Amino acid sequence: MRRLFPVTDQTSAAGDREDREWSLDELAEAYAYPGGEAVWLRANMVSSLDGAAQHDGRSQAISSDADMRIFGTLRGLADAVVVGAQTVRTEGYRPARAREAFAARRAAAGQGPAPAIAVVSASLDLDFSLPLFTGPLVPTLVLTGAAAPPERVAAAQRAGAEVVVAGDGPGVDPRQAVRELAGRGLVRLLTEGGPRLLGQFAAAGVLDELCLTVSPAMTAGEAQRIAWGPALADPSRFALASVLEDAGFLFTRYRRAPGPSA
Ligand SMILES: NC(=O)c1ccc[n+]([C@@H]2O[C@H](COP(=O)([O-])OP(=O)(O)OC[C@H]3O[C@@H](n4cnc5c(N)ncnc54)[C@H](OP(=O)(O)O)[C@@H]3O)[C@@H](O)[C@H]2O)c1
Repeated sequence: MRRLFPVTDQTSAAGDREDREWSLDELAEAYAYPGGEAVWLRANMVSSLDGAAQHDGRSQAISSDADMRIFGTLRGLADAVVVGAQTVRTEGYRPARAREAFAARRAAAGQGPAPAIAVVSASLDLDFSLPLFTGPLVPTLVLTGAAAPPERVAAAQRAGAEVVVAGDGPGVDPRQAVRELAGRGLVRLLTEGGPRLLGQFAAAGVLDELCLTVSPAMTAGEAQRIAWGPALADPSRFALASVLEDAGFLFTRYRRAPGPSA
């Protein structure tokens, strides 16, 4: 893994140019959330060179070991991982693990042992007998709308999940979702998609940062892009914060550029 950007005094030194595996501690430093109490929503997504966010319905084929290390690091830094129900269903989500490598950092930041998983769903058509709901270290949250099916709400609660209403109709309002999480002290937010959920966060103007892995692969086909849904009236602009490279994978990090809506 090498740092390509930002270019610093250190860039030409062996430490930054050398192609070596970074420790989880180094990755955690590189991806630290901005300090403070303010809510910060970061997304982590992987895309092929031609813009595919999945292959054969999953993202594994376009990912890599280094990508998974960064995926794990971003989880290790987050208070909550916000994810769309379809990603939970297709990727077989499990509870987040408590990892020794992040334990001291989490304790110092006043965080629990692992991030809470927050599943966004209108239908609540989820298998509540799965460990994601019955056996997490910290209760899984289910974000839904006020019109969610009451029997499914009850099933989620019976399984041990905390149901959070974040919308007046069947669906979740992305801004309200962020507010509800922040109100519970969950301010270091990470969304892992999928594309339909990320499209809504982007459209609502609440996405602060995008960690985008560019995978050196072409897939063609009809895969979704990393964000899907109604187009924004104006593209929202982001500024490049950093680029790491490993085996041809680019690990880019963009922050929302200051603007009228920021
Ligand atoms: N490349 C990557 O980094 C990456 C990351 C994640 C996922 N993926 C891939 O993306 C695919 C899944 O993504 P997706 O875009 O189809 O689905 P998704 O965004 O993961 O989930 C969509 C579902 O989330 C719920 N949802 C979304 N917005 C909602 C709202 N405002 N209110 C209430 N519920 C809402 C709905 O669940 P209900 O149907 O339960 O109501 C909806 O069907 C998979 O193939 C996965 O492998 C790729």
